[in-house]
Amino acid sequence: MEKVALIGLGVMGHRIGANLAKSGVLSVIYNRSVEKAKRFSEQFGVKCVEHPNDVLKSADIIITVLSDDDAVSSVIRQFHELKGKTVIEMSTISPTLSVELAREVSEKGGAMLDAPIVGTSLMVEKREITILVGGAPQDFERVKRILELLSRSVVYVGQNGMGLYAKIVTNLVLGSYIASIAEAFSLGLKAGLSAQVIERIFTELSSTRSPASQLKMPKIAKADYSTQFALKHMRKDLEIVQREAQRLKAITPISDLAMQLYRACESLGYSEEDFCSIAELYKRLSQTL
Ligand SMILES: NC(=O)c1ccc[n+]([C@@H]2O[C@H](COP(=O)([O-])OP(=O)(O)OC[C@H]3O[C@@H](n4cnc5c(N)ncnc54)[C@H](OP(=O)(O)O)[C@@H]3O)[C@@H](O)[C@H]2O)c1
Repeated sequence: MEKVALIGLGVMGHRIGANLAKSGVLSVIYNRSVEKAKRFSEQFGVKCVEHPNDVLKSADIIITVLSDDDAVSSVIRQFHELKGKTVIEMSTISPTLSVELAREVSEKGGAMLDAPIVGTSLMVEKREITILVGGAPQDFERVKRILELLSRSVVYVGQNGMGLYAKIVTNLVLGSYIASIAEAFSLGLKAGLSAQVIERIFTELSSTRSPASQLKMPKIAKADYSTQFALKHMRKDLEIVQREAQRLKAITPISDLAMQLYRACESLGYSEEDFCSIAELYKRLSQTL
């Protein structure tokens, strides 16, 4: 199997890197904060480099798992020559930007796929994520085995950008849904229901329960906002939805409102906390009524 480089060792990237290293395909890593890269390098015995472009010397497949549009474009635009290389871009970023970057990569002789992740950091550890892939079918075939090492399912959804459109429609629902759950929790408490009863409703009893409510409702009930998926990333994803909706002339009022709520919650200092900390916004606003 071809050797792989990994760029980005955040919550998701670190776990993806661990799986690649355990599968014996990871040859080199890069992370902006050098300390994280050094720690990973010592733990897994994988070489680390100090510039994104340096990974190209040791690998033909480059996986990027970065925070947002700025991070991904700044890293990918630092690659000089990409002949024979395939970039698997796994971050959740704007589909429009991703298509533009794929064109730039192809002008430098390489290929790029968008391959965003559906699933949590825990699911990455258990290799239970789903990966939604957009790009040319022959590029997908070349890297499919690598993606299968990381996931429960790999779904090819179409040309460049389509993996990301499939991802943002998922997060449109997830962001709006968890904001609604937080709203229901707040109303339930005001009415005198116990946190335990509301938790049971959304984990066991209600037909609206889901894997997402089963994961986040216990955290909301305990005010445990330890980060699985940072609130700033959910706000970012809903901003992408709004930008794409504007471009496509689609109507997205529910996720627009949810995005504003996450933004307001960030102003209270919850940017780095889990996105279920949206419950704090309701708690704080309700206290003042
Ligand atoms: N967490 C989840 O449950 C989850 C689930 C599905 C999808 N995603 C998506 O996956 C992506 C990564 O998420 P995450 O939770 O791993 O994020 P994270 O923990 O915040 O990690 C972000 C990574 O991007 C790097 N980075 C940020 N800005 C950069 C820049 N300007 N130049 C170079 N590197 C930069 C960070 O480097 P430093 O270490 O130097 O800060 C870090 O390695 C996001 O797009 C997110 O929306 C996350």
